[in-house]
Order: sequence, then structure tokens, then C-alpha cells
Amino acid sequence: MRKIYFIVCLLAAYIAYSAWVYTAGTVSVVEMDHAAQNGKHIWQRSNCQNCHQLFGLGGYMGPDLTGITTDKRRGSSYARAIILSGGNNMPNYHFTESEVDDIIAYLDHVNKAATANIR
Ligand code: HEC
Repeated sequence: MRKIYFIVCLLAAYIAYSAWVYTAGTVSVVEMDHAAQNGKHIWQRSNCQNCHQLFGLGGYMGPDLTGITTDKRRGSSYARAIILSGGNNMPNYHFTESEVDDIIAYLDHVNKAATANIR
């Protein structure tokens, strides 16, 4: 009989914990501005993730772009140039300058989010 009380207690604790986890919400440490949000939509619409990874997730045809905007060897001007004109295996999407600005803003946001907790 005591066994059943134990199982009921475990079940109640599981339900309470699940309810708390699913209703607590998530908090972003870095605010995403309008340009970055637009850049994210372009990123998703254009399927950049098929070939590139962010935080290690995505396709492996192109390089990981998580920290590209502050990378010493690459940086945002380099990223801009490739996104504007394409590469050997990187498609040229014929983006406008402002679309590329927004994509860079998004990549910059990803970069800040990736390094926000590193001191
Ligand atoms: C078909 C696969 C493919 C897609 C889709 C793709 N890329 Fe690429 N990208 C590549 C490859 C491969 C490279 C490496 C350079 C090359 O070989 O052309 C690259 C290079 C880059 C680079 C330079 C990175 C570096 O370290 O040299 C940036 C920035 C970039 N892509 C951004 C984007 C963005 C933004 C999108 C979506 C709008 C995108 N790519 C979509 C394949 C792709």
C-alpha cells in the first residue's frame, strides 16, 4: 500500500515540475532588433541552414557561421562580400544591400547570443 503513495507522490511531482517548465517561458539574454529579425526571416526563407550551421546545427556543405562577424580571419565585411556575390559553391541570391545588412545584423545577433555568457 505504501508503494502506491510513493508512486502517486512521484507522479504529482512530475506533473508539477512539467507544468512549471512549460509555463516559465524563455528569456533571451540579447534583444533582437528589427534588422536582425528581418535578417532571420531572410535566413529562413533562403534556406541558408541547409548548407551552414549556427551553433553547430545545420548542413555541412558550407562553413559554420556562428561567430563570423567578429572572426579575425573573416569578419563582417568579408561575410557581406560573399553574401552579395556568392562563391564557388555558395549561391548568389542577388540580395539588395539592405537585405545583406539585415542578414549581417542577424549573424551579429547570433554572435552576441553565442558569446553573451562568456566572460
Ligand atoms: C548550396 C549551399 C549553400 C547555401 C544554400 C548557402 N551557402 Fe553560404 N556558402 C556555401 C559554401 C560552400 C561556402 C564556402 C565558399 C564557397 O565554396 O563558395 C559558403 C560561404 C558563405 C559565407 C562565407 C563564410 C566563410 O567562412 O567563408 C557566408 C557569410 C555565407 N556563405 C552566407 C550564406 C547565407 C547568408 C546564406 C543564405 C542566404 C547562404 N550562405 C546559403 C554554401 C551555401
